[in-house]
Amino acid sequence: MAKIYPIVKYGDPVLARTAAIVTEFGTPELKQLLADMFDSMIAANGVGLAAPQIGISQRIAVIDCSPRDQPPDRIVLINPEILHTAGKQSEEEGCLSLPGFRESVTRPMHVTVRAQDAEGRWFERTGEDLLARAFLHETDHLHGRLFLSHLSSLKREMIKRKVKKLQNEGEW
Ligand code: NI
Repeated sequence: MAKIYPIVKYGDPVLARTAAIVTEFGTPELKQLLADMFDSMIAANGVGLAAPQIGISQRIAVIDCSPRDQPPDRIVLINPEILHTAGKQSEEEGCLSLPGFRESVTRPMHVTVRAQDAEGRWFERTGEDLLARAFLHETDHLHGRLFLSHLSSLKREMIKRKVKKLQNEGEW
């Protein structure tokens, strides 16, 4: 049975922590967690989800950036490392842990990631555009970084103030 996890929001310390390296692979628990992460991501209308966003501080992320009218392209990243980046893109970026906030973030256009799959096998994959952005965004999560860290301090402080206000109002 699938479990839909609630998404942890900005302000929770788990999002600011460096997640632990995964050392056990191929277990039923890991497979269930990955299935639940995909279901939770889809339920939240996201294209990527990192384990800290469901309160689990382990280096695991799932991504599916495929267009809605195309077959799914489910990518599991465990212990990911960014190997290579090239080019530049500026697009609006959001995060399930910062609902309601989207900002333009400049990122590389091409990104090669190295990661392990559910069985522990290492693989490399190169993405461009949205997929490149997702590789970086999700890998950032596993090191305690949100897209806020790529904004100007002015914009970052503005968002922090708005979040604080929402927290005070009990709406966060
Ligand atoms: Ni995010």
